[in-house]
Amino acid sequence: MAVRDLLKMGDPRLLRLARPVERFDTPELHGLVADLLDTMHANDGAGLAAPQIGVDLRVVVFQVENNPRYPDAEPVPLTVLINPELTALDPALEEGWEGCLSVPGLRGLVPRHRALRYRGRDAFGAPIDRTVGGFHARVVQHETDHLLGILYPMRMRDMSRFGFVDALPVA
Ligand code: NI
Repeated sequence: MAVRDLLKMGDPRLLRLARPVERFDTPELHGLVADLLDTMHANDGAGLAAPQIGVDLRVVVFQVENNPRYPDAEPVPLTVLINPELTALDPALEEGWEGCLSVPGLRGLVPRHRALRYRGRDAFGAPIDRTVGGFHARVVQHETDHLLGILYPMRMRDMSRFGFVDALPVA
């Protein structure tokens, strides 16, 4: 498959509400997933959403394992998640540092739910139903936000905690 060009913040295509996938286990859907995985891995991303490569569908992928961009994050299994539905299990929000391949070179402190349940399907249409916390929950919230046209700076409460990776003292 292929490493695709990434859209960057400012591109209006990142602000759209993505459309649900209606047909599973098709060559088109498997091709999209392969491109998302190739593009995520080529850029050391923890996750990637279809809108970030200009595809207006509710498809995200994520995986965290020995990632040089997130050296301290706990591992998150490789997941292809389509038409995700999230339910927060803890109303409390926890601040944590995030980056985004569509916001290159920057990091910000973002409030997210500590724990959540997520449901959806994989590319074959098999159901996924998981209850997660920590960085896994953070990644799912970040990627699902892309399907709603929301980039992480739009979730931030304190813009003094937004900056370039090589300048921030703690990120
Ligand atoms: Ni992102």
